[in-house]
Formats: sequence, structure tokens, C-alpha cells
Amino acid sequence: MSDHASAVLVRPARLEDVPSITAIYNEGIRGRTATFETRERTPDEVRRWLGEPRHPVLVAEADARVVGWVAASTYRPRACYAGIAEFSVYVAASARGRRVGDALLAAFLPACEAAGLWKVLSRIFPENEASRRLCARHGFREVGTYARHARLDGAWRDVVIVERLLGDAVET
Ligand SMILES: CC(C)(COP(=O)(O)OP(=O)(O)OC[C@H]1O[C@@H](n2cnc3c(N)ncnc32)[C@H](O)[C@@H]1OP(=O)(O)O)[C@@H](O)C(=O)NCCC(=O)NCCS
Repeated sequence: MSDHASAVLVRPARLEDVPSITAIYNEGIRGRTATFETRERTPDEVRRWLGEPRHPVLVAEADARVVGWVAASTYRPRACYAGIAEFSVYVAASARGRRVGDALLAAFLPACEAAGLWKVLSRIFPENEASRRLCARHGFREVGTYARHARLDGAWRDVVIVERLLGDAVET
């Protein structure tokens, strides 16, 4: 672990973290490098993420301030896919590049495994080098690229699909 990571505490999100999680997400939405989402979220919407046993939500604290979060969410409603989750990870712009994302994923993957998930996945803009490297470091496989998956601000964008197997699903 680097010096930076050792100063970061990762823990399950609590209700009082909701405003910080929301602010960091909305900053990421405004940045236009992470997601097709353009509508900023309200704290009420983010509050609903918490308390789902199958979908861990963790925050990273540095100097007693929430500087990042990672959250699992529903992949598909079909019962056969109940062990698969989507995930998102966002670090406050002022704290990026200091291994906060690294610390979040290092805690998140075991939390997902403990929650009974067998796979987490996400989609990343090809240009999002930080996210692709973060995922590669944590054992994600780049499955392929969806071409022209959706438009962001009117422009077609590709996305790279990444997946990480967990628990029994890991091939030995
Ligand atoms: C993607 C993100 C979560 C990474 O978190 P972070 O704390 O900034 O990243 P870390 O410091 O832990 O570094 C992770 C890896 O990315 C690399 N990296 C970090 N910033 C980078 C940058 N600006 N450009 C290229 N690579 C970068 C690091 O070198 C490291 O790679 P390595 O493990 O091969 O050395 C963060 O940058 C972020 O919140 N970005 C905006 C939101 C986003 O894109 N979320 C992901 C989409 S769901």
C-alpha cells in the first residue's frame, strides 16, 4: 500500500454520508468522462442505494472527509442474474490519482463476495484511462467494446465492458 492509501479509511456508507456521495457523483456527472448520465441526482435518490444487503455501498474517508464511494446496483431484474451487480466508483476530483479508487475497490470486491455476488461488471468510456487501469489492477477482464452504445451531449460514444468474477465463479 502506498502512503496515500494508508491515510484512507474505507467503510460501509451511512445515512450521514449521503450528501457527500451525492456531491461527488454530481461532480462526476458534470465532468462528462465517466457516465452517460447527465441528470444530477438528489440526496433522496442516493439514499435509496443504502441498505440493500446484496449491493454494498462503501465510502473512502481521508482527513475525516468522504472523498470517494463505490456502489453495487442491480444488473438485471431476472432471478437467474441475482448474483451479478453493476458497479460505479467515483472519487472527488480533488482526491483523484492518489489511490483512493484503489483502496475502494480493494475493500469492495470482498464485500461483494460476502454479499453473495458472483460477478461485478461495468462499462467504461474507452478514453477513461484511470478507470480502465483501476479495473485492470483489480482483476477485471475487458470483455469487449459496445460500439456507439449511446449519445452523450449528442455525440455517439463507445463503451468497454469490464467484468470481475467472484467466489465460486472464479475459474481455478
Ligand atoms: C476512475 C477513478 C475512480 C479512479 O480513482 P483514483 O483514485 O483517481 O485512481 P487511483 O489513484 O486509485 O489509480 C488507479 C489507476 O489509474 C491510474 N490513473 C489515475 N489517474 C489517472 C489519469 N488521470 N490518467 C491515467 N491513469 C490514471 C493510476 O496510475 C492507477 O493505475 P495503476 O494501478 O496501473 O498504477 C477516479 O479517477 C474518478 O472518480 N474518475 C471520475 C469518475 C469515473 O470515471 N468513474 C469510473 C466510471 S464508473
